[in-house]
Amino acid sequence: MSQTKSPKVYNPLLELKNIHVSYGGVKALVGASMFINTGEIVALMGPNGAGKSTILKAIFGLAPIGSGEVIFESEKIKPISHEVVEMGISFVPQGRRVFHHLTVLENIEIGGFNIKSANERKERIEMVLDLFPALRAKIKAKSGTLSGGQQQMLAIARGLMIDPKLLLLDEPTLGLSPKIVKEVFKIIKEINVRRGIAICIVEHNLKSVLDIATRAYVLKSGHNFYEGPTGEVISTGVLAKAML
Ligand SMILES: Nc1ncnc2c1ncn2[C@@H]1O[C@H](COP(=O)(O)OP(=O)(O)O)[C@@H](O)[C@H]1O
Ligand SMILES: [Mg+2]
Repeated sequence: MSQTKSPKVYNPLLELKNIHVSYGGVKALVGASMFINTGEIVALMGPNGAGKSTILKAIFGLAPIGSGEVIFESEKIKPISHEVVEMGISFVPQGRRVFHHLTVLENIEIGGFNIKSANERKERIEMVLDLFPALRAKIKAKSGTLSGGQQQMLAIARGLMIDPKLLLLDEPTLGLSPKIVKEVFKIIKEINVRRGIAICIVEHNLKSVLDIATRAYVLKSGHNFYEGPTGEVISTGVLAKAML
């Protein structure tokens, strides 16, 4: 089963066509395809090892693309991390990687390393803090003292410092309590609505992602298993089928 429904809107900011990635002998992606429209939230789902993280890494120049095309703003690109950042793509990897010995502010500043003007950097920090009142309240705290949810917010805040057009989020709510998961999703939605940033989110909790994502891709064994509106992914039970 694949690509059973044609998407209603096709105005891709980013598109992947028939991507293959191998790590040595391990075939992580064997012809995966997807697109993300400007300003859209898309969920990437599927069982462990399906290739979800590899897709995000491939977009960000962190996975070896053997064949296939990556197209950003109608141009074919060869993803290299620092160039992809300049193009306006931000990647928040799995695992809430913040610098524990640095303060909240210092962590956020690191995300703006490529902003040359001090004024612009300040404005950007303000813009980011407006989205995260909880971080503003802890601006001078060492990041190691933050809760898991706050550390995740900080990792996302740092990713927003480049004012991206596209934000890639890998399992941002993994290991967080249901209440915090709700908060994180609320902020992700706000980022999308208030700043118009397109988001591709790897998430296994279908119910949480239903509220924010318009479409979902289900991967299995490195290729597309299903794609469709998020509600349809629920009604068809296709995610459970992908787990078999
Ligand atoms: N650095 C790596 N070296 C070797 N194999 C890897 C590496 N990263 C991922 N893989 C393998 O590639 C496949 C896809 O992994 P991944 O993209 O992390 O899946 P997911 O995020 O969906 O759980 C898995 O079989 C995984 O074991
Ligand atoms: Mg993963």
